[in-house]
Amino acid sequence: PAITADRLLLFGATGDLARRMLLPSLCALDADGLLTENLRIIGTARSEMDDNTFRDMAREALETFLPAERRGGMATFLNRLSYQALDATTLTGYEALAEKVGPSDNANEDGGLAIFLSTAPSLFGPTIAGLKHAGLTGDHVRIGLEKPLGTDLESSCAINDAVADAFTEDRIFRIDHYLGKETVQNLLALRFANILFEPIWNSNYIEHVQITVAETVGLEGRVAFYDDAGALRDMVQNHMLQLLALVAMEPPTSFDATAVRDEKVKVLRALRRVEANETVTGQYRAGAIKGEAVPGYDDELGKESDTETFAAIKAHVDNWRWKGVPFYLRTGKRLPERVTEIVVRFRCVPHSIFEQMGATMQPNSLVIGIQPEENITLSLMAKVPGLGVDGVRLREVPLEITMPDAFVGQHRRIAYERLLLDLINADQTLFVRRDEVEAQWHWVDAIREVWEAADIKPKTYGAGSWGPSAAIALAERDGVSWHE
Ligand code: BG6
Repeated sequence: PAITADRLLLFGATGDLARRMLLPSLCALDADGLLTENLRIIGTARSEMDDNTFRDMAREALETFLPAERRGGMATFLNRLSYQALDATTLTGYEALAEKVGPSDNANEDGGLAIFLSTAPSLFGPTIAGLKHAGLTGDHVRIGLEKPLGTDLESSCAINDAVADAFTEDRIFRIDHYLGKETVQNLLALRFANILFEPIWNSNYIEHVQITVAETVGLEGRVAFYDDAGALRDMVQNHMLQLLALVAMEPPTSFDATAVRDEKVKVLRALRRVEANETVTGQYRAGAIKGEAVPGYDDELGKESDTETFAAIKAHVDNWRWKGVPFYLRTGKRLPERVTEIVVRFRCVPHSIFEQMGATMQPNSLVIGIQPEENITLSLMAKVPGLGVDGVRLREVPLEITMPDAFVGQHRRIAYERLLLDLINADQTLFVRRDEVEAQWHWVDAIREVWEAADIKPKTYGAGSWGPSAAIALAERDGVSWHE
């Protein structure tokens, strides 16, 4: 059985993700007493620096990206850190790294080793070879991989093969940071800890589902990466499909990694191949967000490009439960607000006694707000108070739970806190299994093929709008409007 790691080896330790998310998350866990006393964190990256310079860099990152009240005694945390420079592409440096890390195989004496690769995926292959060369791949070593895991099924398989050459699947932890978000995990609680929803969670009662991941940010300086990726690979292939899988999966028999992931992969494999007219892509032009002027994608990029910064897709899960229920997905950069939410729209009542009395009816909907607000809203029809002399009037009213109000005093955690802790403790439930990633790419690659075959290029949309008008039409032709 896997044991708690007493060392965490962090590749890409001077990079953006490490500074913004990983080091702050680890420090926050430490401040809450959640890291074992003997855990050491060894950073590695190409730049030459000594332990103290790395600690100074980490301190600066913590002061910038972690609120003061979550930092705790930073000194204790910083003392856990050490650093070893490494050129990940040549084998030679790995021996010195292994020496710094200490033995990795003798679990009784040394505890486990957790490795986290927060580097370009092109370095994954050479890094694995180096780790193997230096004996850092023993049974008590596990490895976390940051996205992107390839750009299509083929390249993702190549990465997975390279990792599998040194690590068994039960020691590979593929990150999808959406799974570390509290409200995403809450989806499982909502569905499987309440009797109310499961009996109606199917095509008999649900008319459609919407999943929106809207961002206000643009390229954020990730010019080359994003232009090669685009919205479909960057957001749909991973985060949105994971959300869809959690909404659509069957109840697992237990809350363990195998049971949960077995059910998710069945959904991902049941995704129907999308037709050209079931997708809309867009690319933003100059516009304004919350009153502030922002440049267009091509201006930010410095050239013209066919990369989509927006995608809307009508997806179908071809199984018994979801027959005929569309899942409308949309995501984009430079949209009017940052919001991630899932909307479950129920069917109308089969026979309305109130319509006969002149009332207008709305079907119920359940809106699960994932960010920035964490809330759950069930819209219900209620009678408008009054004597009803000129007929009965009904109106939709929200039954709303706001998570911060329901759980006062619990601070919101960074998604990586949960995921790094699970990596250290070897719990794979919230990590993506190989078959899931492959099913995700399989579906997404087919969409790209359809775009290429039909020569579909992104339509333009103004920054600060909800994407090209065709995205609205995609839903409207089914009589559906996107939730606002
Ligand atoms: C990342 C994408 O995976 O997720 C980014 O590469 C995107 O383009 C980010 O901005 C969104 O994450 P979050 O947690 O801010 O919703």
